[in-house]
Amino acid sequence: MTVPPRFLDRRVFVVVGKGGVGKSTVAALLALALAARGKRVLLAQMEPGRRLPELFGLDGELQGPSEALPGVSLMTIEGEASLSEYLGIVLPVKRVHKLVVTSKLYHHFVAAAPGLRELMTVGKIWYEEQRMDGERPCWDAIVVDAPATGHSLQYLRMPQAAATAFGPGLVRREALRVMELLRDETRTVVCPVTTAEEMPVNETLEMYAQLQGELAMPLGVLFVNRVHVAPVAADAVCAPPAKAPALVGDVLRCAREEAGWASINARYLARLHETIEIPTVELPFLFAEEFGLAEVRTLLGTALPGLGEA
Ligand SMILES: Nc1ncnc2c1ncn2[C@@H]1O[C@H](COP(=O)(O)OP(=O)(O)OP(=O)(O)O)[C@@H](O)[C@H]1O
Ligand SMILES: [Mg+2]
Repeated sequence: MTVPPRFLDRRVFVVVGKGGVGKSTVAALLALALAARGKRVLLAQMEPGRRLPELFGLDGELQGPSEALPGVSLMTIEGEASLSEYLGIVLPVKRVHKLVVTSKLYHHFVAAAPGLRELMTVGKIWYEEQRMDGERPCWDAIVVDAPATGHSLQYLRMPQAAATAFGPGLVRREALRVMELLRDETRTVVCPVTTAEEMPVNETLEMYAQLQGELAMPLGVLFVNRVHVAPVAADAVCAPPAKAPALVGDVLRCAREEAGWASINARYLARLHETIEIPTVELPFLFAEEFGLAEVRTLLGTALPGLGEA
C-alpha cells in the first residue's frame, strides 16, 4: 500500500461545505499556506463570486488565471468556456473550432446535455493539473473553492455518472481520467469546512458519508471555522448590578453571549469527533470590522501546527 503524501504536499485541494461557513476563507488560507512553501498555486472558484477576488484585491470579472499575490493566481472555472477550450484542443483547426462553438446546434447541445457543464468544470481542474509550462507543471498546487454542499456533490458525481452513461469513446475516456484524479490520494484531497452548529454539522456528517462512500474521494482535514471559546460558562456570568454603567451591562451581555456560543460549539465539536476520523483544525472566531486577507493570515497562523501534522 502506498502512503499518501503529507497534507500540504498534495496537488489538488477541494474545499467543500455548507453555504456561508467559510469555504472561500479556508481556500484562501490554503493558497497562502502553499505559496508560503514556495509553490505556484492556482486558486480556482467553481462558480463566479466576488468574495475571493475581493479578498485578494482584484477588481472586475475573474476569468483566466490572474496573479493576485506572488505565487497565487486566481481564476473562475466556467463550464461552457472550458468546453470551448477543450474543443480547441481536440479540434486544432481554428476555423472548424469557431464554426462549432458559434453554431446553434452546439449551444442547444450544451444547454440540453445533462451535466455537461458540470463535467467540463471538473474536467478543467484535471486539465490545469496536467498543464505544463515547459518542463515543469504550470501549477504546483490547485486549491478549488467549491460551491455549497449539494451543488458540489453534483459536480463531483458527474465524472462517475458520465463514465457509466457513455459507451466507449471520447467522453467516457475523459470522464475516467477526471475520476482517477479525484480519487487519487497521492494527488487529491477534499477538505470539508463547517461551523460547530447544528445545521452545518448535520450537513457535514451527511456529506462526509457520501464522500467516503459513493464518491470514494480522499479526505484530508476538516476545518471547523468560527469557533468561540470562553473561560466561563454562560450561567456563571452575573446579571449587571443595579445602577451599573451601561458599558458594564454591555460587557456582561457580550460575555454571556460568547459563553453561550462557546458551549454550543463545544457540543457540536464533540459530535463531529464522534464520527469524523480525519484530523480536525479549529479556526477561532475573529472579531474584525472587515474580514480581509490580514484575518485570513491570522487564521493561518493558528492552523499551521495542525496542517503541518496532517
Ligand atoms: N474565523 C472567522 N471569524 C469571523 N468571521 C469569519 C471567519 N471566517 C469567515 N468569517 C466571515 O464569514 C463570512 C463568510 O465566509 P466565506 O465567504 O469564506 O464563506 P463561504 O462558505 O465561502 O460562503 P459562500 O457559501 O457564500 O461562498 C466572511 O465574509 C467573513 O466575514
Ligand atoms: Mg465562498
